[in-house]
Amino acid sequence: MKSSPWWKEATIYQIYPRSFFDSNGDGEGDLPGVTSKLEYVKSLGVDAIWLSPFYTSPNKDGGYDVADPRDVDPRFGNLADAKKMIDVAHSLDLRVLVDVVPNHFSDQHVWFQEALRAGRGSAERSRFHFYDANPDGTLPNNWISLFGGPSWTQVADGQFYLHLFDSSQPDLNWESPDVAADFETTLRFWLDLGVDGFRIDVAHGLVKEDVLKDHPDPQGLSDALRLDMPMDPEKRYALLPTVPFFDRQGVHEIYRKWRSLFDSYGDRDVMAVAEAWVHPPVNATRYVRPDELHQVFNFDLLDASFNSEHLYDVMSRSIELMKSVNTLPTWALSNHDSPRVASRVGEQQSRALALFVFGLPGSTYIYAGQELGLPDGVIPDESRQDPIYLRTQGLQKGRDGARVPLPWNGDKAPFGFTSGTPWLPMQDSWKELTVEKQLAEPKSSLNLYRNALNLRAEHLVNNVEIEWLESPLHGSKNPSLLAYRRGNVSVYMNLGESLVEVEVTGKVLIVSAGTPDGRDGKITIPAISTMWVQH
Ligand code: GLC
Ligand code: CA
Repeated sequence: MKSSPWWKEATIYQIYPRSFFDSNGDGEGDLPGVTSKLEYVKSLGVDAIWLSPFYTSPNKDGGYDVADPRDVDPRFGNLADAKKMIDVAHSLDLRVLVDVVPNHFSDQHVWFQEALRAGRGSAERSRFHFYDANPDGTLPNNWISLFGGPSWTQVADGQFYLHLFDSSQPDLNWESPDVAADFETTLRFWLDLGVDGFRIDVAHGLVKEDVLKDHPDPQGLSDALRLDMPMDPEKRYALLPTVPFFDRQGVHEIYRKWRSLFDSYGDRDVMAVAEAWVHPPVNATRYVRPDELHQVFNFDLLDASFNSEHLYDVMSRSIELMKSVNTLPTWALSNHDSPRVASRVGEQQSRALALFVFGLPGSTYIYAGQELGLPDGVIPDESRQDPIYLRTQGLQKGRDGARVPLPWNGDKAPFGFTSGTPWLPMQDSWKELTVEKQLAEPKSSLNLYRNALNLRAEHLVNNVEIEWLESPLHGSKNPSLLAYRRGNVSVYMNLGESLVEVEVTGKVLIVSAGTPDGRDGKITIPAISTMWVQH
């Protein structure tokens, strides 16, 4: 049974268009390619797709450097292709979310080009953050870019502009009324073309405070913001709330305005989800107040270890936090910015985790390829494209591994993704992981996802209340067991290497690995697996 509104307990499939399916042999995925595979997407049992940017862009940061937010980049097709994709999705009863990137534009956007020409003090420059160097010649402030290196770049007349990300991504100044007005035009543009909502990129970054003030520990702050950087948790949690460019109160004013714009579309049920990494975690709840956005990403599982104590901790906390504002959490195990879950925790572990997460209340985001159990691609350094790799002189490898194109069919790379040369190298070792192979194998990861998503819709959605049955922090004697019950389904995850016997009566609906065995009110749960039991 579908819950209402549609996004409340949705499963949303994230498509990275460049890596999904190439329709014209140039080695890069495109919108007609997406459209041609929507039936596949539908067959997974998801409710919606979210597409990473396909707008006009020099593509220095995978399209998150937008040069025209109201047009399609030729590498992906054109506006008619976008319209067709939306219409075909709707005909399959799939909603469509698109990305909106309000923190920055590309330096190729006409506004930035005008700002360069107009010179210091001009209205054109006031749409960005342009400043002179300090009298002693130092940069306007000491902030470090999230992609490494200084967050300021100098232009020909000597002024500097702020960029939290790549130097090709000048930050917008949200104090300029032009900026707010332009984004409202963009939101309407895509809504009028038919989309059902937005994923808001760097939603917590739009408003900056004290742009000319140095941070006392810029390197510490930069390290704290990088999840791959080991750091004493106490130090990290002390530094994170001091970020002068994230999670300032002013952002909420912007989202209240956006919300009334969304609501003006009435029964279209427009929704928006914020990408907001904020600290402390309770701050995330502010983005989903009743007059703001509908969902906020929860990144806890993207780097969570496969450990029952830790998982219980982050899962129960997210549920409780969102309950405090009368809403449900979101879950994601992978996205285009982080290592794929199968590589991070292991293949069998990632299946168990996915099946466990699919039972939880709230919406689940699935990153294309996750359903195939894809690992990260192996990328030779000379093929890397991520600005993180380039700006840190190779110190950080960047995110290309998670962006390798999808293997569709055949026995050799590029596995039907393209008739040309794929934009990132694909591995022949993926030959057992293609969609074609997995469709034919009942125990494949793909079929696990399909079955699980159907069972989820049938048995779990709408039973919001969850009762924890087993956890190391919660009365269980078995440190490798986690379990909860929702309605008449109990979900058990055995994180350990040996099977576990639990006392439960009911019918096994699905298991992520091995074969369950049950008699006399007891069921054994195979090692490293999740099982759903219907009572
Ligand atoms: C978001 C995107 C990421 C991009 C960054 C800058 O975090 O998910 O891919 O690089 O914003 O736009
Ligand atoms: Ca193409």
